[in-house]
Amino acid sequence: MSFFERDIAELSINPFTMIAKEWMLLAAGNAERGYNAMTVSWGHLGAIWGQEGGYPTAVIYVRPQRYTKEFVDREELFTLSLFGTERRKELSYLGSHSGREGDKIGAAGLTPFFTDGTVCFREAKRVFLCRKLYHMRLREEGFLDPSVIRENYPAKDYHEMYVGKIFKVLERE
Ligand SMILES: Cc1cc2nc3c(=O)[nH]c(=O)nc-3n(C[C@H](O)[C@H](O)[C@H](O)COP(=O)(O)O)c2cc1C
Repeated sequence: MSFFERDIAELSINPFTMIAKEWMLLAAGNAERGYNAMTVSWGHLGAIWGQEGGYPTAVIYVRPQRYTKEFVDREELFTLSLFGTERRKELSYLGSHSGREGDKIGAAGLTPFFTDGTVCFREAKRVFLCRKLYHMRLREEGFLDPSVIRENYPAKDYHEMYVGKIFKVLERE
C-alpha cells in the first residue's frame, strides 16, 4: 500500500466533521528515537503568518499528562493521520490507553511507517505532516467565559496548543 503527495490547494474537506466527528491520530517520533500516538478530536485547520495568504497550518491541543506530548515536545515534526470512520475501534483504543503502559499501537493493529524524519500509519487515508511553529500553554486568565473552565478543566490541566505548518499531505492510493 503506497502513498502519494497531494497538493493541499486541491483538498476539499470539512474540518468540523473531519476533526470533531472522524477524529485524527496525532503522532510524533521516528524509528531511531521511538514514537507515540494518541487520538485527538479538538483542533483547527487554517492559515496564518508567511506571505500570500498565510502558511497552511494545523492547531492541536494536548493536555500536559499525555505521553504523546513528550514526543511532540522533543521532535520538530508531528503528523495528523486521518482514517475517516473506518478505524473507529482503533482510534478509541489509542484515545483511552497510554503508550506509557506498553505497545498500544501494536495492540490497536496499526502499522507505522517512517518518512521525512517522522511517523505515519499505513492504514491512514490521508496524513498531514507538520513542522512546529508555535507552542503555548493555555492560561487560566485567558478564559473569558468561566463555564469553559468549569466544564473542561476541573483539574486545571489546561491544554497546550501547538501550531504546525503543514509541509506535506500524503494520501493512500
Ligand atoms: C475521541 C477522542 C478525542 C481526544 N482528543 C484529545 C485531544 O484533542 N487532546 C488531548 O489532550 N487528549 C485527547 N484525547 C485523549 C487522549 O487521546 C488519551 O488520553 C490517550 O490515551 C493519550 O495517550 P498517550 O498517553 O499514549 O499519549 C482524546 C481521546 C478520544 C477518545
